Amino acid sequence: PRANIGVVGLAVMGSNLARNLASREGNTVAVYNRSPERTEALVNEHSEAGFIPATSLQEFAASLQRPRTAIIMVQAGKATDAVIDGLCEVFEPGDIIVDGGNALFTDTIRREATVRERGFHFVGAGISGGEEGALKGPSIMPGGSAESYETLGPILKTIAARAPEDGEPCVTHVGTDGAGHFVKMIHNGIEYADMQLIGEAYDLLRRVGGLEPAQIAEVFSEWNQGPLSSYLIEITAEVLRQVDAETGKPFVDVVLDQAGQKGTGTWTVQSALSLGAPVSGIAEAVFARGVSSHPEQRETVRPTVASRPEPQQVDERFVEDVRKALYASKVVAYAQGFDAILAGGREHGWELNPGEIAKIWRAGCIIRAVFLGRIAEAYGRNPELKSLLADPFFAGEVAEGADAWRRVVATAALSGVPAPAFSASLSYYDSLAADRLPAALIQGQRDFFGAHTYRRIDREGVFHTDWSGDRVERRVDVAPK
Ligand code: 6PG
Repeated sequence: PRANIGVVGLAVMGSNLARNLASREGNTVAVYNRSPERTEALVNEHSEAGFIPATSLQEFAASLQRPRTAIIMVQAGKATDAVIDGLCEVFEPGDIIVDGGNALFTDTIRREATVRERGFHFVGAGISGGEEGALKGPSIMPGGSAESYETLGPILKTIAARAPEDGEPCVTHVGTDGAGHFVKMIHNGIEYADMQLIGEAYDLLRRVGGLEPAQIAEVFSEWNQGPLSSYLIEITAEVLRQVDAETGKPFVDVVLDQAGQKGTGTWTVQSALSLGAPVSGIAEAVFARGVSSHPEQRETVRPTVASRPEPQQVDERFVEDVRKALYASKVVAYAQGFDAILAGGREHGWELNPGEIAKIWRAGCIIRAVFLGRIAEAYGRNPELKSLLADPFFAGEVAEGADAWRRVVATAALSGVPAPAFSASLSYYDSLAADRLPAALIQGQRDFFGAHTYRRIDREGVFHTDWSGDRVERRVDVAPK
């Protein structure tokens, strides 16, 4: 056996990951695909890679050094389960099976338990960066046992992206069993929020600011030089600059305005709801994709709108205001995302390190940004940080942009331009910052209709007012459910 690592599933992501692995010093890569044509094609097209092709899982297992380490890159769901079963048949105890797909973390927890029963290590590893990342250097979020990471970690370090700040590889042992896929899921939720916020900024610059896509591309390119500098801002400028060859129109004007999704954003929101983590920015981003993709509904409501508000008059500050609104909303989206990460850690007994997670998102992944370095620093200053919004650096940044943020949200509302993620983020910030919240009134309502009780600001204990009787308050010892 000559290979130190194997890849099962050779569609684009799998092939690219295999090629990346093979291109690094010290790796010999075994490859297997269910239909052998694909294996053959890869091996023929990339003879320089020195792949060891296998036509069966037995052959694949025989070509791997022990402990065998194989990364599965097939479709999440049944296909993944089938490959895991197959590998368990041909592997021996102590070998390591890695699922590099976008699996739901609860599936990973289940699989890890069953595979461990059978004596193998199972690692759910989130891999971000798309096709290019897989080939040139992704951000990798492996879960599974610490023991498996001793073998797997050094191999993954050879292919991971390196942070521009310090050259550190963007991979770390995130936590046990499903922790890696959980963190990758939240990464995708944040990705949804980032994309929606950029979309809202574009929409406002265009419909209120009166700029054309090519001009907005210039604005984004300029923003990309500052604290918003990120992969998503960079590619947005490129998309906006693109002109449709057929019609000569801006590319963005010929694309159907219905956003697709494969489910990871929805999973993030579902999980956050179960964890009691309010990820309103991410939720609005998922909802906005949903709203966009119901054309029949949009068509029936559109003609009912009484009057179309005129875009508000804006002054020369507007572009800078939108930049600040985008930045502040982005801080909120990440604050909420990291809250969800920490809540997941507490729920599942994972020791998740937010600073380390921010670090491995600095390069390789879709949300890579200068910003992530700042988040890593914030958690470095205070590992117990209760919210990113409480970090002195981010608090200062958001406070500095708050007026602009309010102007933008108000302008959007008055102009009839939807800005759900901008507004939800601002409301979240204002909620955390409020002296008093109307939650007190909600407690009163709950006590009124259901005797759900409340606590007072000035005394210990649980209370109920007899709303339907004498309206006298009594202290109740045991709170009714
Ligand atoms: C990544 C991406 C990747 C994929 C998303 C797209 O980190 O590399 O997040 O996982 O592109 O799943 O998701 P949607 O199709 O739901 O937008």
